[in-house]
Amino acid sequence: MKTIALISTTGGAGRTTLTSALAVLLARRGRPVAAADLDPQNMLGAHLGLDSFAQVGLGQAMAGRVEPWRDHTWRNADGVLFAPHGETTLAERTEYESRLAAKPRWLTDALAQIDFPPRGVVLIDTARFPSQQAAQAIAAADLVLCATPLEPAACATLARRFARLHQSAARVKVVVNRLNPARDMQRDALALLRAAVGNALELVHRVHFDAAVPESLARGGWIFDDVPHSQASHDLHGLANWLDAWLDGDLADSAEPAP
Ligand SMILES: Nc1ncnc2c1ncn2[C@@H]1O[C@H](COP(=O)(O)OP(=O)(O)O)[C@@H](O)[C@H]1O
Ligand SMILES: [Mg+2]
Repeated sequence: MKTIALISTTGGAGRTTLTSALAVLLARRGRPVAAADLDPQNMLGAHLGLDSFAQVGLGQAMAGRVEPWRDHTWRNADGVLFAPHGETTLAERTEYESRLAAKPRWLTDALAQIDFPPRGVVLIDTARFPSQQAAQAIAAADLVLCATPLEPAACATLARRFARLHQSAARVKVVVNRLNPARDMQRDALALLRAAVGNALELVHRVHFDAAVPESLARGGWIFDDVPHSQASHDLHGLANWLDAWLDGDLADSAEPAP
């Protein structure tokens, strides 16, 4: 079983969108898939089909209030097993963050309890990096996908934090999300990012902007079902295919597309 953390240095970068879409696309390729929500926004469940926000989940487990956390998991229509964050108060989050700081491998140990075959994969949606939640996810991960829109604030924070991220993570791949090649500003932002992270950008994957992404979410569907021939659907399938091959361990770095 391998673990993939979805992180970002700004909010709204697409962590939850990518976690849920990739979980479903990998499940449809026949993989056992689990998804864990470590973001107090508690949105992963909504993306994966819950009608209302789960009250109890990993947030309460991290605070030491429920045990075992596996009793608070769900399975979506595509067979993805998922653990919502749950609704937490500020006091509960303060409590669990200090517990996490004292137990840097809490999540690694918790995920080891999932009885998954070697082909299985766990995707982790996190709070923004840096945070206790992101640190736990990175510590547990074999691969870190760092989502970023090509906007100045997002690229500047990623550029500033990339070195630290790179030191702490097994392997980092940048996913540029909401790409709109018609906007000059995005080309400038990519140049800024490239100057800051250098060769690591050879690990970039791109997902184009498409208004159908939030529209499909609002209808409880997926862009790759609603608009299967769109560029964004093609990009998501491309990333899922890359991950599928990476999970089988047969993809060399040199085979990755340049940005
Ligand atoms: N490729 C995309 N094209 C258009 N909208 C997108 C795309 N990816 C994400 N979004 C939208 O951007 C918003 C933020 O995405 P979300 O996944 O919630 O970010 P995060 O979890 O990083 O905060 C959501 O409304 C989502 O539907
Ligand atoms: Mg989110």
